[in-house]
Amino acid sequence: MGHVAAPTAVRFEHRTDEDPVLGIGTATPRLSWIVPAADAAFIQEAYEVELTRAGTCEVIRVTVGDQVLVPWPAAPLSSRESVRVRVRVSGAGMRSAWSDPATVEAGLLRTEDWTARFISPRELGKLGAPAPVLRSTFDLPGGVVTARLYATAHGLYEATLNGRRVGDQVLAPGWTSYGHRLRYQTYDVTELVREGGNDLEVLLGNGWYRGRLGWDGRHAHYGDRLALLAQLEVTTSDGQVIRLGTDAFWTARESGVLADDLYDGQRADLRPRADDRTGTVEVVDADLARLVAPDGPPVRVTQVLPAAAVFSSPSGATLVDFGQNLVGWVRLRVRDQAPGQEVVVRHAEVLEDGELGVRPLRTAKATDSYRLAGAPLEVLEPSLTFHGFRYAEISGLPEVRAEDVEAVVVGSDLRRTGWFSSSNPQLDRFHENVVWGMRGNFVDVPTDCPQRDERLGWTGDIQVFAPTASFLFDSAGFLSSWLADLAAEQRPDGSVPLVVPNVIESPLPAAAAWGDAATLVPWVLYQRTGDVGLLERQLPSMRAWVDYIAGLAGADRLWTGGFQLGDWLDPTAPHDAPFEAQADPDVVATGYLARSAEVVGLAAAVAGDADVAEKYARLAGEVRDAFAREFVTPGGRVLSDAPTVYALALAWALLPTADQRHHAGDRLADLVRASGFRISTGFVGTPLIMDALTGSGHLDVAYRLMFQSGCPSWLYAVTMGATTVWERWDAMLPDGQINPGQMNSFNHYALGAVADWLHRTVAGLAPAAPGYRELLVRPAPDRSLTAASARHRTPYGDAEVAWQRSEGRLRLRVVVPVGATATVHVPGRPEPARVGHGTHTWQAADPAAANRPLRTQATVRDVLDHEDTWRQVVAAAVETGVVGDEAEAAARLQVFLDAPSSRLVDALALAPPGLAKGRKALHARLDHLLPP
Ligand code: BGC
Repeated sequence: MGHVAAPTAVRFEHRTDEDPVLGIGTATPRLSWIVPAADAAFIQEAYEVELTRAGTCEVIRVTVGDQVLVPWPAAPLSSRESVRVRVRVSGAGMRSAWSDPATVEAGLLRTEDWTARFISPRELGKLGAPAPVLRSTFDLPGGVVTARLYATAHGLYEATLNGRRVGDQVLAPGWTSYGHRLRYQTYDVTELVREGGNDLEVLLGNGWYRGRLGWDGRHAHYGDRLALLAQLEVTTSDGQVIRLGTDAFWTARESGVLADDLYDGQRADLRPRADDRTGTVEVVDADLARLVAPDGPPVRVTQVLPAAAVFSSPSGATLVDFGQNLVGWVRLRVRDQAPGQEVVVRHAEVLEDGELGVRPLRTAKATDSYRLAGAPLEVLEPSLTFHGFRYAEISGLPEVRAEDVEAVVVGSDLRRTGWFSSSNPQLDRFHENVVWGMRGNFVDVPTDCPQRDERLGWTGDIQVFAPTASFLFDSAGFLSSWLADLAAEQRPDGSVPLVVPNVIESPLPAAAAWGDAATLVPWVLYQRTGDVGLLERQLPSMRAWVDYIAGLAGADRLWTGGFQLGDWLDPTAPHDAPFEAQADPDVVATGYLARSAEVVGLAAAVAGDADVAEKYARLAGEVRDAFAREFVTPGGRVLSDAPTVYALALAWALLPTADQRHHAGDRLADLVRASGFRISTGFVGTPLIMDALTGSGHLDVAYRLMFQSGCPSWLYAVTMGATTVWERWDAMLPDGQINPGQMNSFNHYALGAVADWLHRTVAGLAPAAPGYRELLVRPAPDRSLTAASARHRTPYGDAEVAWQRSEGRLRLRVVVPVGATATVHVPGRPEPARVGHGTHTWQAADPAAANRPLRTQATVRDVLDHEDTWRQVVAAAVETGVVGDEAEAAARLQVFLDAPSSRLVDALALAPPGLAKGRKALHARLDHLLPP
């Protein structure tokens, strides 16, 4: 008989906590597990779940092959109930052993479970006053078996119990649409309580609730009073349950945190003060029905980086370089300084002229300061703020030693699930920058940037980045929580705010690509995780958005007019008008309407609602027809003739005939050539252009775009030393100056969305069925790489694709997890292979091996496509003074692409008003190279 290994990684919903999972917010958590290994013949036919609760044990057998998000098989959990679960699987005559047990414990599932009430300090903690500490002392009997603390706040909170920190979260309770949903946390404090007197203290900070949000200087978006809700529940061995909660008997005192703000930083006085001001608290009215349990991981310290260098700036300031643009704060050790001495830490992402480049922070002060206690050793670090920085300036100390400074990296503690590597170190660094960009901008909310006076949940940014995000990290819990906020904040007419949580007053009723986060993010999550429940939950929100924009479009099915953000940050847009893209905004908006309508139709079909599916499929068809009628010529040109409009028309099947698609693909490739293989798309086109090029038979052009390192391009930033993805293609100009635009972050994930193409196409690992139950392996080797690989921890387990080119051979290795199958397109083979779980290898002739010569009767286009020849042409044209650079050369040639290559030199030299000087010299240099 064959063998199947015991299941591992038994999970509840999308929670990724180490065992146990505490405080889950549903009575019927869905289960998932991984089968780490099995004989090739194994196919799961049934699973058994063993549940141990309150001393009794039941085993439930279910005869299906599913292993991802299967329904809770037993009676629902009640609040606080803890259940131990084991799973085993069987099929094809094999049965596994039981998994290790995993424990899930319900949170407070009903509002009535809360006996505590929100309390707020009465005299202390006013706006602008030092951060208050709320306090309670209480006695406990001996024999405590379990103790839980349930807590949340209006503002940030940090609890200590008997002098020890509760939990390891930071910036709790995180940020949600507080008016609708406020997260509470559940902590196991069994080890922290003691028999006799106990002391629970909670520091409150302004955070997102009362601090500054947005660029208009406003604060206190949710209210001007900090408040705490905390409930301690203790069970003793003799069955006693003791419940203590925040109430009017708590007390308040002032802390040494004199000021705290997410944007501006934290100011602390560390001197012991005998005369701490104290005060009373009062119960405040607050709706407990808003309380929700977390779906994803909390914000934690995820890494600590040493200082890479400490040095003096030209002006004499002491600067620290951490070698990585990151999000968090600086931890500094100081020794033997005078009490009351002030140490100041300022932050910036880049240097300009050797000094901190703080202009991109706009009004965010990003400054932490400390009045020292004067102890022999003091460790300085804030906890009620965070900064986006690579450099820090430290003042107030006679000397700063590198070993005394660290960068504390903070972010949502997402489980890493995706990796990519290649034979090109620059490409790998770019990919690493995408990862860091995600780490810095997944701070409880998917934000645009982490450093300036913004840091908001911009819908458009995550809309384009969601596919990459869900590959790199387990984002399901994080994003499904955010989507619940999106739905909660959607307006009654179905329009979606530009940012979620919504804290800005937008003059725009709706923006294409931004509001479409409502439809496209849930769809991506479904594709990547197989979560049908999430899709069903979001469907009303998805429909409402499409109904709304269909209404804006009206009977002609064209969404035209009105202000749009459009193909935001097209590199040709003026730096102070990022919406002035080449792509026509009506084309972009109508394209999104078609795409979103289609996705709603597909989602409704998954949810089993055929009528609704039909309705939106029909709408999508009508919009497609309208798009083609209004914006596309019979030959396949698309209005505004910009790369982005072709990218979206091709990627979203908006061109009716094969001929149009063919020509549109060719036109897109020509536009890329004409830009000298430099990128010329913004937020909308960038995530789509590579798929459009690949799908229309222009993989080589896509690779040329990927490996461009001139400005603008993906790799340009890498050559400038970037360690994160920038908001603008040229956030830092080639001369090292910071782009003059007022909106200019060095840590923005949107343009990093191309990483999804690296995973799916370059390496070749894509989902073919929801949750990667079927893998589509279709690697696209190119001569610019000798190897590439991607690995993803799918819901079924690790999948991997790795290819390598050498000695005329292509070697392909594919790992398929148990429970999944794969369709593998081995380059050069006519038919794909279908394989089950396990490790598979293939060899084939290297499709990229031949170093093809430039063909005879070549056109100018052929010369551009022939990288080696083109490089020589550009070098000669620059050296002879005919053009300034590659981009100029390509631009001159764009109208001569079909001309014979023998005309290339004359075409290059045809610079208005006459012939460029250097033409003769260029002929002399190139005539041997370009066949007649
Ligand atoms: C943000 C962007 C956002 C845009 C839209 C910017 O300030 O940083 O990423 O999507 O505004 O207006």
